Amino acid sequence: MPDQVLSPVARSAAAASAPDATATIATPTGFRLTAHNQYNATRLDAAHLPPAPLPLFRLWLHEALRPTHGQPAVREPEAMTLSTCANGIPSSRVVLLKEVDEGFVFFTNYTSRKGRELTGHAALCFHWREVSRQVRVVGEVQKVSREESEAYFATRPRGSQIGAWASPQSQAVGEGEMERRVKEVEEKYPGEVPCPPHWGGYRVMPIEVEFWAGQPSRLHDRFVFTRPDIKSEWSVKRLAP
Ligand SMILES: Cc1cc2nc3c(=O)[nH]c(=O)nc-3n(C[C@H](O)[C@H](O)[C@H](O)COP(=O)(O)O)c2cc1C
Repeated sequence: MPDQVLSPVARSAAAASAPDATATIATPTGFRLTAHNQYNATRLDAAHLPPAPLPLFRLWLHEALRPTHGQPAVREPEAMTLSTCANGIPSSRVVLLKEVDEGFVFFTNYTSRKGRELTGHAALCFHWREVSRQVRVVGEVQKVSREESEAYFATRPRGSQIGAWASPQSQAVGEGEMERRVKEVEEKYPGEVPCPPHWGGYRVMPIEVEFWAGQPSRLHDRFVFTRPDIKSEWSVKRLAP
């Protein structure tokens, strides 16, 4: 197996057992995943739903962040899968939710693959395993204002600020190129690091939000809020699991 397809753990294990650069490790050739985990989330019922989804999302996020034994109930609940589509070809990756106001805000490189694909609509998916909950969102994508991006950029750690300048995100780079680029940016900005013009936020303005609460025997509770556009009223219906 080529070295670059091994995980860091597997790579170091391979290196420890056989420092020879051509080393390979034995891995199972097939997996059969037979667990039948049962989910048991707090039930969701129509009588207790608010008229719009964002208050319920905020409540679920609040519950996910609530400390349990000194840790949030859900580890990094702000991690969400962002899916985009271009020419009928979908692509997904994880980004971090930074704000929920009338939409879901995250920050990235505008020239990255996702940046190029974020033109009309996008989908988000949160999986909060520890509480057996999932939230799916479909929405219209808007860029956040320059002021908002700059204000958030100013709060980032210096290393992340340097990285935003140094990384031509999603493009191929040579071995050692990132280290060289980081060094150059560090030398260019010994003090304050300005927000790069190619870096900023997006706000996904929801037109569909589904709440999923896992239940025993796969009879999960699902409610989907939909509206035809971001100015219209919401309607809600229960979905079969
Ligand atoms: C937990 C986690 C959080 C991440 N957060 C962000 C983020 O907020 N913004 C971002 O641009 N990339 C983030 N990434 C990296 C993206 O998943 C992705 O690799 C990168 O944005 C390039 O994606 P693209 O080539 O599809 O544009 C995160 C990855 C993980 C695993």
